[in-house]
Amino acid sequence: MKEELAKKWEKGADFYNRNFYSFNKKQWEHLVAPYLNDEPGIKSILDVGTGPGQLALLLASMGHEVTGLDLSKRMIELANQHNEEARHKATFLEGNAEYMHFLDNSFHLITNRLNLWTLPNPGLFVQQAYRVLKTNGKILLFITMPDSKKVYENPQTNKKEEIFTEDYQKAVAQLPFRNASPAQVKALLDAAGFKETVGYEFNDERTFTAEHMADMLSDYGEAGEAFQQLLKNHPSKDEVESFLQKYHFSHGEVHYNSEGALSFVFPIDSAMITGRK
Ligand SMILES: C[S@@+](CC[C@H](N)C(=O)[O-])C[C@H]1O[C@@H](n2cnc3c(N)ncnc32)[C@H](O)[C@@H]1O
Repeated sequence: MKEELAKKWEKGADFYNRNFYSFNKKQWEHLVAPYLNDEPGIKSILDVGTGPGQLALLLASMGHEVTGLDLSKRMIELANQHNEEARHKATFLEGNAEYMHFLDNSFHLITNRLNLWTLPNPGLFVQQAYRVLKTNGKILLFITMPDSKKVYENPQTNKKEEIFTEDYQKAVAQLPFRNASPAQVKALLDAAGFKETVGYEFNDERTFTAEHMADMLSDYGEAGEAFQQLLKNHPSKDEVESFLQKYHFSHGEVHYNSEGALSFVFPIDSAMITGRK
């Protein structure tokens, strides 16, 4: 199962980078700032399951010393490219969240965004996180609440599915935290010895350009081709909305900006769970 999972992230890294790298920086800065500004000074931060590095680089842009860790070599390459382009000095390393080789007491803060669900043994990661945090160090885990990933609803079967291979889906079905609630994540942190663990729910959103939507829909065969065709005809907002409805993507909002470019905003129910060593 581990191999299937690792292969998937490696193969999907460029797709992930194209479609999910951009996020609402202001909102995320606002979310993490209280955990960085409690004491003055530069913090040493580890972002686990960093992917193409968007959160790690946001933290670096706030002046902190950031290390991003990811199992996928390609994700690390992409994160390094963004690091160079933004002229930040974050460090990106290939490695497994469940077997981290950092020394004890190394970091003030560990962040983990949308990675916990991918782990076959999330308990191992949380124990490692506890070990490598400094005394009073904090962990911030960001999860998507169960049943809120409608963007992946398959228009052909009307079922919620990931866009992934059958083998990968079988492997995902065995992941213990693939649908974990904030309470389950809090219990995991409590069991590893974290204190003052609390969860906050917040609304997140993802915005896609027409190009990104076409890229995602191209995995859906018929829907992808129909979308490309629709775009060629300079559709009205109503026409785009009825297209989305037909293919069960109707929970998103469609906008035309002043320059006539389309954007798609999908709301996501999210939670942040935090604890202190
Ligand atoms: C959904 S992506 C999240 C990426 C990024 N944190 C974000 O917010 O977009 C999950 C990431 O976890 C990584 N990953 C999966 N299993 C891992 C493991 N055992 N150790 C470290 N990273 C892992 C994947 O390669 C992928 O980059």
